[in-house]
Amino acid sequence: MLRAKITATGSYAPERSLTNYEIEKIINTSDAWITERTGIKERRIAGESQTTSELAYYASIKALAECNLEPDEIDLIIVATVSGDMPFPATACILQKLLDAKNAVAFDINAACSGFIYAMSIANSFIQTGTYKKVLLVGVEVLSKFLDWSDRSTCILFGDGAGAAILEPTNSENGILSTHIYSDGNLWEFIHLPGGGSKNPTSNHTIENKLHYIKMRGNETFKVAVKTLENLVLDTLKFNNLDPAELSLLIPHQANLRIILATAKRLGISMDKVFVNVDKYGNTSAASIPIALDEAVRAGRIKKDDYILLEAFGAGLTWASSLIKW
Ligand code: COA
Repeated sequence: MLRAKITATGSYAPERSLTNYEIEKIINTSDAWITERTGIKERRIAGESQTTSELAYYASIKALAECNLEPDEIDLIIVATVSGDMPFPATACILQKLLDAKNAVAFDINAACSGFIYAMSIANSFIQTGTYKKVLLVGVEVLSKFLDWSDRSTCILFGDGAGAAILEPTNSENGILSTHIYSDGNLWEFIHLPGGGSKNPTSNHTIENKLHYIKMRGNETFKVAVKTLENLVLDTLKFNNLDPAELSLLIPHQANLRIILATAKRLGISMDKVFVNVDKYGNTSAASIPIALDEAVRAGRIKKDDYILLEAFGAGLTWASSLIKW
């Protein structure tokens, strides 16, 4: 049976790190509060002139170099982002130009923090049907430019970064075993950015009322996330007839350490089997899973034949998971 396999990964985070201590100087918060409620210590912030496609480019060239692939060999580019360079064209098309990937088709998908796994799911289907053979997936965000730095309930949470992966077909048992994607539009208001679209076109009103910034009902989102992710991970293992003990590494979306701890507890696995870097990057939405995956690979935390579970939850609301045999 033909399946997709991740043959390379890459990631990039802007140099500038913004610590909790620095945020203490901007708004009424503290390192102690942020650390206790979220596990975040610092996050990366893109430079004033840095764009989403630029971050995506740096992550992509690392992944391409890893598997000795030339950009013109790629036949599909999918970029998962909610903070693209501009509403259109797709950031994937701008990335295509930066890479000079002239033989690819390129498009974006918007599934917020679940975006990278959504992109994996789409790529997996294309590979399984033989439509495309060399796929570049990127999860990338420059959320810092969409944050209200006077809103302490959101600005402490998010960060910028990019992660990339190359997917290719394989006949072996190792590769993507399953992907699972879900959404519930009834809860779209939990996390959204109201301004700049057809509902609230940019105007003095939208700017004065800060509609161009991310709005979130954090506490309600938190509760739904914990409950949803607990079921998601168990269902994903069950679908693959795997016991939690057989899992080598859980790579959760890095939104909040308390959500990650709750999921690990539900699985009954110890934290040494869970990859965590939320302390360094905060919540980088669609970039979170591929950055974590790349860091786990480079740190030697993933070996051949390991079972890896990816899971994410975000705006939409959306949630998604994937089980991989490495
Ligand atoms: N510093 C200090 N106090 C803060 C604060 C901050 N940065 N942000 C909020 N507070 C205060 C609130 O004003 C509130 O004060 P009050 O009790 O006097 O009204 C109190 O802390 C509790 O607020 P609450 O929102 O209930 O906190 P919480 O424990 O739910 O933590 C989040 C807030 C945002 C960290 C948490 O809800 C969360 O992580 N939610 C999920 C976010 C998420 O994952 N979103 C994306 C999905 S991908």
